[in-house]
Amino acid sequence: MTINHPNFGKMDENRVVIFDTTLRDGEQSPGFSMNLNEKIRMAEALAALGVDVLEAGFPIASPGDFESVQRIAETVKGPVITGLSRSAPNDIIRAGEAIRAAERKRIHTFISTSPLHMKYKLKMEPEVVLEHVTKSVTLARQYTDDVEWSAEDGTRTDMEFLLRCVEAAIKAGATTINIPDTVGYAVPEDMERIFSTVLEKVPGADQVILSTHCHNDLGLAVANALASLRGGARQIECTINGIGERAGNASLEEVVMAIRTRQDNNPYINGIETTRLLRTSKLLSTITGFDVQPNKAIVGRNAFAHESGIHQDGMLKNAATYEIMTPESVGWQKTSLVMGKHSGRAAFRDKLNALGYGDIGDNALNDAFTRFKILADRKKVVYDEDIVALVDDEVVRSHEAIKFVSLEVWAGSKDKPRAVLELEVNGVVKTADERGDGPVDAAFNAIRAIFPHTAELQLFSVGAVTEGTDAQARCTVRLAEDGKSVDGQGADTDTIVAAVRAYIHALNKLVTKRTRHAPEALSA
Ligand code: KIV
Ligand code: ZN
Repeated sequence: MTINHPNFGKMDENRVVIFDTTLRDGEQSPGFSMNLNEKIRMAEALAALGVDVLEAGFPIASPGDFESVQRIAETVKGPVITGLSRSAPNDIIRAGEAIRAAERKRIHTFISTSPLHMKYKLKMEPEVVLEHVTKSVTLARQYTDDVEWSAEDGTRTDMEFLLRCVEAAIKAGATTINIPDTVGYAVPEDMERIFSTVLEKVPGADQVILSTHCHNDLGLAVANALASLRGGARQIECTINGIGERAGNASLEEVVMAIRTRQDNNPYINGIETTRLLRTSKLLSTITGFDVQPNKAIVGRNAFAHESGIHQDGMLKNAATYEIMTPESVGWQKTSLVMGKHSGRAAFRDKLNALGYGDIGDNALNDAFTRFKILADRKKVVYDEDIVALVDDEVVRSHEAIKFVSLEVWAGSKDKPRAVLELEVNGVVKTADERGDGPVDAAFNAIRAIFPHTAELQLFSVGAVTEGTDAQARCTVRLAEDGKSVDGQGADTDTIVAAVRAYIHALNKLVTKRTRHAPEALSA
């Protein structure tokens, strides 16, 4: 039977809704927190990617979470915007307020249904949980016709009870029913069986969208998501780069490319513009400071690299010998010489459009263009990757409280290295002149002199954006404070400048974290 959904209308029976939870399940995992501007930037990229539903956050969790869901609802056009809520009335009311301005909106409400969760976490009898299901969905429907109900720990729930809960949620007006594998315990056969049983046994289940939400604790999230489709699910909840609680969620890019590449096995359609997958993945890495591992499917540095002689030989004869999809189809471009020091602002703007940036705002464009000119002066060839690193750096940093202004470093084997650093802190330029055991140490000491803090430096690493000795360095810095750690990234042809940018990126995140969770924020 065809589903007539309040936000999607009459749905093709093979249409799969892509529900992105990078900004909720992904963002709540350790090290991945984002500030408001970073979330908006990411939400815009997800909208451009073509996700159908964008879970913008958990509004009751903190005033910051509420504000980011509200701002995304106000500004990001395209996807259905949803906010998560538990079953308590206050949670639902808060979620309803946060999503109010969205053109298309959804409330996603959940409660645990497994014996373990009901007994130890909720301390509720099953019949009480059932009442919560009905009441929470009924209340959520007062804010929007599009309500998703989730059975937390659904895959470890007694099947008879799960069927009763799903039936209650549908009767109360839920339009999407999500059965999450919250702890990543299921195997593909379980997922297929659970969904086909729900579809067969619950009255009205064929009139709502069934949804799957798989965690990756056994490395099975993507396989489980695809198996759910075979059982009748038509919404996949997933995240960019597979980020999420513990081992993460099903990775959006893997799910989408598995569907596209193996249509024989997965004859489904979705609205994702796959050529934007790499860009979206890289933006998330830049914002969070976490690169994906080199061998990560689709978006890892080695995903389309061919090293062995036999493979290279095959590739030269016919790329299909070792490639099951083209690199271009997911956004990789043949490394190309793009622009030089004579290129103007208009050409730079065109280039950004070609690279999929759209409008980054005049301030970020001007700053990025200035940095591009400096880069083009220093570097013999400027590649697309250089521009991506530079612009991501600029866009991500344009709203930060602490900004890099300039750095001079004197280093060598004779005198103790010295760094003179200028930073702008809340609009005021401050200078420090410090020495250190090496040039990086001197520069980091200068940061500490300008902006005193107690965070511990846990990791400092350096990589190259492209090849050659004039390549831009990409540095990562991890800072830890009060048991919480954040990663920052920075890119520049000067390795010490890249290191300082990475340190400042991490420091800004720490400041945001403190402001978000403790009003007595760190002061300069
Ligand atoms: O993993 C889970 O069960 C969740 C729900 C809130 C959907 O994230
Ligand atoms: Zn989850």
